[in-house]
Amino acid sequence: MCVHLTVNSSLLNSVQSFQGAVYGIHSLGRFLPIVEWGGIFLPLLFHALFGVWIAKNAKLNTSQYKYTSNRRYSWQRWTGVIALVYLFVHVLHLHGWFHFAPYLAVIEPMNFAQFKPYNAASTMMSAMNDFGGFVWPAFYLVGMLCCVYHLANGIWTAGITWGLWLTPAAQRRASIVSAAFGIGLAFVGTAAWYAATSAGPEDIARAKMIEDRMYQVGLDAGYVPVSEEKRTQPDEISEQFEAEEAAEEQAIHEQLENAGAEVLADQE
Ligand code: HEM
Repeated sequence: MCVHLTVNSSLLNSVQSFQGAVYGIHSLGRFLPIVEWGGIFLPLLFHALFGVWIAKNAKLNTSQYKYTSNRRYSWQRWTGVIALVYLFVHVLHLHGWFHFAPYLAVIEPMNFAQFKPYNAASTMMSAMNDFGGFVWPAFYLVGMLCCVYHLANGIWTAGITWGLWLTPAAQRRASIVSAAFGIGLAFVGTAAWYAATSAGPEDIARAKMIEDRMYQVGLDAGYVPVSEEKRTQPDEISEQFEAEEAAEEQAIHEQLENAGAEVLADQE
């Protein structure tokens, strides 16, 4: 979450900063799905299933006891449930969960799997404008803040479970540190949220122009692999690049053939 929200907040600096960071992530190439599933989705699903079981067995007692700790215990469970729903919908909305063509052909027209990594800022910003432009921003703000609370308070409760802060004084100190961490991350998350949700049609069009320029330069320099599926459609740049590449290959092939023919003629 720290990395994700920091990368997203780089959009506040510029479209270039955000696109550059996304290229960095996607430079993992065929290892990316392994990192996504092994390092993010499967651990998250494990935590979610285990968390639902914990929340089901929770004994909420805020109606009898109004102490902060009792409230924190309840909020930890409520924010966990909200985070679960948020993450399921959020990943479906932008990433899509899976990336095989027949499945994408069904969910993309339903306004899911909207994020295109090589048009990172423009597709993220325009995805937030669906349904009148207020449903997704509200959903993202509540979901992001619940995730931040769940993580910050979860660090404090994990420290107790692992025996890291057991005395009341140590727990008070840990509370201050986890609250400071939570406030800091909420600040970064709100910056990321604002960057993604505050853009109008003109900003989106300008972002797309910058992304297309970066893609063209990246292709020419050879550090961005050509990929139509990671780009907004129709993708004229990829088509044009592939046509130019094919023409160049054809020319080299012909040159080699001619050179070969000349060598044979010399030998004769
Ligand atoms: C400010 C709010 C947020 C914005 C604008 C945002 C934006 C994005 C974008 C654009 C993607 C697509 C990345 C891709 O497909 O490569 C994504 C994926 C994802 N986001 Fe967020 N996000 C936000 C908050 C969060 C929070 C709070 C979490 C909590 C853990 C989270 C977890 C994820 C996960 C697990 C993925 C899929 C990871 C992947 O693609 O490998 N996001 N997000």
